[in-house]
Amino acid sequence: RVPVIIDADPGIDDFMMLIVALNHELLDVRLVTSVAGNQEQEQTYDNLLRMVSYLGKDLEVARGLEGPLFKELEPATEFHGDTGTGNVEFPEPTIEGSERSAIIAMYDVIMNSEEPVTIVTSGPLTNVGALLFTHPEVKSNIRMISIMGGAAIGGNVIPTAEFNIYADPDAAEIVLRSGVPIVMSGLDVTRQAYLTDSELEQIRDIGTDLAEKVYLMLKFYQEAAVGTPFHTPFFADVVRIHDLNSIAFVINPDIYRGNFYYVTVERTSPITMGTTFIDYLKTFGQPPNAYVLHDVDRSELIDLFVRSIVLS
Ligand code: BDR
Ligand code: CA
Repeated sequence: RVPVIIDADPGIDDFMMLIVALNHELLDVRLVTSVAGNQEQEQTYDNLLRMVSYLGKDLEVARGLEGPLFKELEPATEFHGDTGTGNVEFPEPTIEGSERSAIIAMYDVIMNSEEPVTIVTSGPLTNVGALLFTHPEVKSNIRMISIMGGAAIGGNVIPTAEFNIYADPDAAEIVLRSGVPIVMSGLDVTRQAYLTDSELEQIRDIGTDLAEKVYLMLKFYQEAAVGTPFHTPFFADVVRIHDLNSIAFVINPDIYRGNFYYVTVERTSPITMGTTFIDYLKTFGQPPNAYVLHDVDRSELIDLFVRSIVLS
């Protein structure tokens, strides 16, 4: 089984990613850490404790840094609600949070693992960037970092930048420069990771409490997105589950198509700050530092998701 660390800012689609991550037989999740993003750290940490408990797993959950390295956090309340869960309530956690910080816990898990560890992220790269910057010795025991973030073409916070990278561009740049293999699920591929209304209804029909929560959360997410410029009229009857991709690639890379590119984050212009610049015209002559995903087999991805809900 693949040793995995998960870093998330739940977040509606982060919860969907967790359902898959915590129920797949190929994965050995050793640690889950919270990052500030969709909501403040206080909230994402609490959500994570509740979600991991709700999914019936007794895992180490460690609290990450309070906010982005240099920027002020701008939470995505509009899309995930005040609680970050689309107002769906999770019971009080049954597990205690870790006594150690996310960075220390990540360091220990990576350094003590017999096999290289895979890091999967579904939020800003604050914790992972801080880890790589302060403890570069971990790099040799990281197999890859699979991130949801960025976009080759078109953003969702500003016209060119995606939320997770926009939230902490400095941390993202540290990760991209680290030399560790990076797989980037940007909006180019995550736009294809959608569920239709009838698929959402089918999930609800599974009839469990989890299926109902998934349905209600994704309905909230869909309704929040309708009418935003990013959500074109063609897609008014679908909901996108961006964060599913960073975990799905680790489980089944064969359902993705991508290419190796040099990727860097724009961090100086007040207009395009947080944009991932994918050098697909090879203008800069730099060696590639990321495998950028372009396409996913949507039906395989949805099968994986639904299977995880049923198995949970
Ligand atoms: C990303 O932004 C967040 O709001 C979602 O959880 C996802 O990680 C999509 O741009
Ligand atoms: Ca997220």
